[in-house]
Amino acid sequence: MTDQDTTLRPRAEAAGDTLSLRRPDDWHVHLRDGPMLSLAADLTARQFARAIVMPNLVPPVTTAAAAEAYRERILAALPPGRDFTPLMTAYLTDQIDPDELESGFQAGVFTACKLYPANATTNSAAGVTDVGKIGKVLERLQNIGMPLLVHGEVVSPEIDIFDREAIFLETILAPVLRDFPGLKVVLEHITTEDSVRFVEAAGPNVAATITAHHLRIDRNAMFDGGLRPHAYCLPVAKRRHHRQALREAAVSGSPKFFLGTDSAPHSKHDKESACGCAGIFSAPTALESYAQTFEEEGSLDRLEAFASEFGPRFYRLPLNTSRIRLHRKSQRVPDVLEQGDLRVVPFHAGEDLAWQFQDEGFD
Ligand code: DOR
Ligand code: ZN
Repeated sequence: MTDQDTTLRPRAEAAGDTLSLRRPDDWHVHLRDGPMLSLAADLTARQFARAIVMPNLVPPVTTAAAAEAYRERILAALPPGRDFTPLMTAYLTDQIDPDELESGFQAGVFTACKLYPANATTNSAAGVTDVGKIGKVLERLQNIGMPLLVHGEVVSPEIDIFDREAIFLETILAPVLRDFPGLKVVLEHITTEDSVRFVEAAGPNVAATITAHHLRIDRNAMFDGGLRPHAYCLPVAKRRHHRQALREAAVSGSPKFFLGTDSAPHSKHDKESACGCAGIFSAPTALESYAQTFEEEGSLDRLEAFASEFGPRFYRLPLNTSRIRLHRKSQRVPDVLEQGDLRVVPFHAGEDLAWQFQDEGFD
């Protein structure tokens, strides 16, 4: 679809207490597997038509066959009638075969590749130890136009955790883009003003996703009256001025910044532990959270482009045609979500949100 086609009207309409939007997509989400999958997939599929699904399972999704099987498990986990398209990604390793990526991409199984620096985050031990080892892969991705999705943090323990994203830009991403200037790159879940500026200055082949939580919390949220494991994610939230830079980028109207929740559920037990897992489960009220931020920034009229247009435009996918509604109706987010034996604490647990998503499509 051409750029011209993707600026179709109508824009979001805010008629008093109702906000009508073209159905959005989530360009970065963790749906997990097993018992967590049915909870996570359903909550994402309620709000979003499509989602870029992260491959950091155990074992990671490194082949087209594994991605197809995972896609089937996702669809099987949804209630009948949910209209949802999982867009699958390949997990890059030092040994990944470029032919496997290309054939999976040409067959429509893989939408993109995910670069996890080894040991940067959850289930990334099999990730890339040195981008120098995947030069042939990057060259192939550039040639075939397959997007590279990047977890942008260096991992050396001597580098302060709050500096890891900025140093990644300088030492890894800038050289990669110098060597492969045509590579399509999404810098995922950006957390710093440095990343905003980097993406703004790069060519149109470089974009970024912004999560709902990084628009709302800064690093103090992890230490608010005690240790707050549910505010811990990677990359960690940074200082308040970085959060403000993200807010300004999200509402700027630049097509380089679009919605990607990085919703990453872990059980309550795994979060509330001596070594708690990184990840914030924002899927249950993702759109409500973004809407609140955009409204606070006086930019509700820009939410639709950020949530529903800039992502498909970057990925060269058609815009969704159905619409969703949010109502201005206060809701209290539950302290915990339960399904069978599983207990998961959602983002905004126990807080009141001003908007409420209406759970059905309409024309
Ligand atoms: O907070 C995070 N959680 N960041 C990541 O990069 C991975 C994710 C997860 O899979 O739990
Ligand atoms: Zn993620």
